[in-house]
Amino acid sequence: MKEIALITGASGGIGYQLALMFAQKNIPLLLVARNESQLLQLKAEMEKTYGTTVYCLAADLSTSDGVAAIHEYVRTNYLRVTYLVNNAGFGDYGSFVERSMEKYGEMLQLNIVSLTELTHHYARGMVQMGKGRILNVASTAGLQPDPYFAVYGATKAYVISLTEALHKELENTGVTTTVLSPGPTQTEFMARADMADAKLYAAGVMTAAEVARIGFRGMMAGNLHVIPGFKNRVLGFFSSITPSGSLRLAISAGIMGRKNKK
Ligand SMILES: NC(=O)c1ccc[n+]([C@@H]2O[C@H](COP(=O)([O-])OP(=O)(O)OC[C@H]3O[C@@H](n4cnc5c(N)ncnc54)[C@H](OP(=O)(O)O)[C@@H]3O)[C@@H](O)[C@H]2O)c1
Repeated sequence: MKEIALITGASGGIGYQLALMFAQKNIPLLLVARNESQLLQLKAEMEKTYGTTVYCLAADLSTSDGVAAIHEYVRTNYLRVTYLVNNAGFGDYGSFVERSMEKYGEMLQLNIVSLTELTHHYARGMVQMGKGRILNVASTAGLQPDPYFAVYGATKAYVISLTEALHKELENTGVTTTVLSPGPTQTEFMARADMADAKLYAAGVMTAAEVARIGFRGMMAGNLHVIPGFKNRVLGFFSSITPSGSLRLAISAGIMGRKNKK
């Protein structure tokens, strides 16, 4: 069986940059996302540049069929997942009552259900092998409630809570779970979340390559929670010491507000 790193959401952004980190270490990869032509192009590029074996699978992880397709692919290709990166995710910005419940359903399935199913399935195999690394991508949005980004923030709070709890449960098994909480990062995320007029991204962004490098290093070291960037760590610290209540919500609502709001 070939040992691989399985990365979801690897067709662009942070996931693609994380895939490059594995390829540079010559670790075989299974790249998953919906855009098949993009995946095939990246596979060809990475195999040519780094000589790494790259498998790819087009799957929609906002459906339960997507996760089943990954299991089937791994089984039939005799692969063994020793690194799992749950990176695929999206947000949806705006007033909770005005945004679409259908989209929220897809977000819950992708950001929470698929991530949990993949973690459960492959962590079990890793524990049997006595080795493995799991990196779950959350967000600084998961560090406090986020008015106007409420569902997304809640999904990422779940990812942080789950991953930190598993880090303790899996102690002494040879398997580690690490949660990566990036702040605003230059990817397709902002456009897909309909955030062009959000103040958040005007205050500066990190590059996806920088975020991936820091996350990869944290995962390899078996760290618990990695927040890339000094500013994000400072905000995270203040969020952790500000008691839950109206002050915390007012600060968060200010940060999550729109530019040029009349
Ligand atoms: N960028 C930020 O500011 C930021 C900040 C904090 C946290 N994050 C988190 O970082 C992670 C990566 O996001 P990113 O910034 O790199 O955004 P991105 O550029 O939009 O990339 C998202 C990736 O996920 C894949 N994806 C989306 N929906 C999918 C689905 N239903 N099934 C399978 N794959 C799907 C996309 O590929 P396809 O479209 O080909 O499926 C793409 O490869 C996400 O979990 C996000 O929440 C981002």
